Amino acid sequence: MSVPRSEYLSTAWADGIFANRVLFITGGAGSIGSGQTRALVHLGADACIIGRNTEKTEAAAKEIAKVRAGARVLGIGGVDVRNFEHLKAAADRCAKELGGIDYVIAGAAGNFIAPISALSPNAFKAVIDIDTIGTFNTIKATIPYLIESAAKNPNPNPTGATGGRFVSTSATFHYTGMPLQSHVSAAKAAIDSLMGSVSLEYGPYGVTANTIAPGAIAGTEGMGRLASSKMDAKLLNRGIPIGRMGSVRDIADATVYLFSDAGNYVNGTNIVVDGAGWRRQGGM
Ligand code: HXC
Repeated sequence: MSVPRSEYLSTAWADGIFANRVLFITGGAGSIGSGQTRALVHLGADACIIGRNTEKTEAAAKEIAKVRAGARVLGIGGVDVRNFEHLKAAADRCAKELGGIDYVIAGAAGNFIAPISALSPNAFKAVIDIDTIGTFNTIKATIPYLIESAAKNPNPNPTGATGGRFVSTSATFHYTGMPLQSHVSAAKAAIDSLMGSVSLEYGPYGVTANTIAPGAIAGTEGMGRLASSKMDAKLLNRGIPIGRMGSVRDIADATVYLFSDAGNYVNGTNIVVDGAGWRRQGGM
């Protein structure tokens, strides 16, 4: 890979920390999802990328596999996260072909800009279905594999090896409410709640469940959608305390932390990676 590691992953992480581990990720061909996958694969993991668009998903898998010689990265397309059977088949195939599932990222999401007056009930439901029901379906399809992984890798593990970890992609909109994003805001609030319940139900099995809430991340599809709207100028100009937009690498590093040996005792919480931007978003 010609891109220097420091552009997509902190140099703080040791190579090989995820050796013999398998990542299952929905939305893995998207901007943030492919960044998370690339980081995990660089550090030793194999991965299954799940997506609706087969061509896009398979192309992303091929590209990410280049990051490490010998990496196995499987693209499983034609999967709609709103359909539990699709996800179950994908999880079973991933486990069969790559030998199990140790880490899961529920990253698939749907978004568009619209005020409530322009949202049909079905439009609101479409985003709830993709984000919230999709996350539920992902948990349900993969939890048996995560329990198995956690059983093989006690938390903490004297060897430092980890397993049985779940991360969902959230957002910060619901902390304040967000104009033109009522659907996404409601869907992500439900995801935070759902992941809290997962942490309680499956913590006793050694499985951890957390969310990551990205702020404005430069160069992503989500940002592209927001940037095409009239709210863009306000959004970007209101100022992010740390003085810059986030990068995909910022989200990848937070993910590595949660899946690594350093994240052993982090369960049932949300990591906001937004330069404290959400603290100003109420002023919109
Ligand atoms: C109002 C809209 C709309 C819009 C679609 N709809 N776009 N309503 N304004 N701009 C309505 C449709 O009219 C329809 O309602 C309903 O939504 C479902 O639309 P479909 O096109 O039939 O659904 P589907 O094909 O399943 O597509 C789902 C989608 C689409 C969410 C609408 O955008 C999608 O597939 N997105 C996936 C990729 C994506 O969005 N990635 C960005 C994620 S970024 P009616 O009543 O007509 O049937 C992200 C980041 C958030 O989530 C945080 C950023 C910081």
